[in-house]
Amino acid sequence: MAKPRVLATHRLFEAARQILQESCDVEYWERPERPPREEMLERVKDKEGLICLLTEKVDDELLRAGPKLRMAANIAVGFDNIDVAACTKRGVVAANTPGVLDETTADFAWTLLMAVARRLVEGDALARSGNWKGWDLDQLVGTDVWGKTLGIVGFGRIGKAMARRASGFQLKVIYTDAVRATPEAEKELRAEFREMNALLAESDFISLHTPLLPETRGLFNEEKFGRMKRTAFLINTSRGPVVDEAALAAALESGKIAGAALDVFEKEPAIHPGLKRPNVVLAPHIASASLETRTKMACMAAENLVALLQGRRPVNVLNPEVLKG
Ligand code: DGY
Repeated sequence: MAKPRVLATHRLFEAARQILQESCDVEYWERPERPPREEMLERVKDKEGLICLLTEKVDDELLRAGPKLRMAANIAVGFDNIDVAACTKRGVVAANTPGVLDETTADFAWTLLMAVARRLVEGDALARSGNWKGWDLDQLVGTDVWGKTLGIVGFGRIGKAMARRASGFQLKVIYTDAVRATPEAEKELRAEFREMNALLAESDFISLHTPLLPETRGLFNEEKFGRMKRTAFLINTSRGPVVDEAALAAALESGKIAGAALDVFEKEPAIHPGLKRPNVVLAPHIASASLETRTKMACMAAENLVALLQGRRPVNVLNPEVLKG
């Protein structure tokens, strides 16, 4: 029997290719650049499965172009690139990759926090420049991390992993979320709940770990920056549009906050020019980019797809109602 045809919009890792090859006939997009939209619309025509990245929009137009599609398996935990309602309407299962990237993403949020607090990027530039004249008492003085207050916005798996790392630096951890953590989780992570405004006023570092939803789009705006300490830093490894970049640039320019460290941007790969300042650390959306984790993400997406195509129930389904019928 012919294997179901699948489009993978990336060449993937060998381990993920192995998972797919047993039961699918896979067409890989092998080129280094992301596939243009027209290519996606063309290539999806005869495919039953799609394995894609967060840079590809899976919307009604794409689903119409691929009438045989049964699943869109995203290689990311965030799925704001997928119109889940449109998938559901057309009976297409949508899946993501939760759980496997929490620790790696939290590691990187800490990397950003430390880098901006201790001015690592500026230090690296000076050390390489040939202009370093040697040790000086007030050279590139940053701010202490240890003993400060970390405010976590979004206390899901990644927010909690961020909190877990804070005790080594003797930080006080406060968090805000629509859903309060259990008393046991608060105790284990030594984290105290705060309403948003209290968290903004109290935190020395604010780290964002919320998904992009209609209610979180533009959440960090002029008003929020106005409530932060002038000495505070914003760290964002969630989704760019959670922060109003123009408002952030203005807050940095006017000294309303001390700095920022960002892995995600409103309109990637574009970055607001007002953010290219010495007190901002910029990274190109790489918080989950360790070989181990990216391999796990690709394998999880491949397993989701193979399960569905073999008539089993995939684990990470975003619209389980499609499977009920
Ligand atoms: C995700 O998974 O949503 C990240 O942004 C990439 O790891």
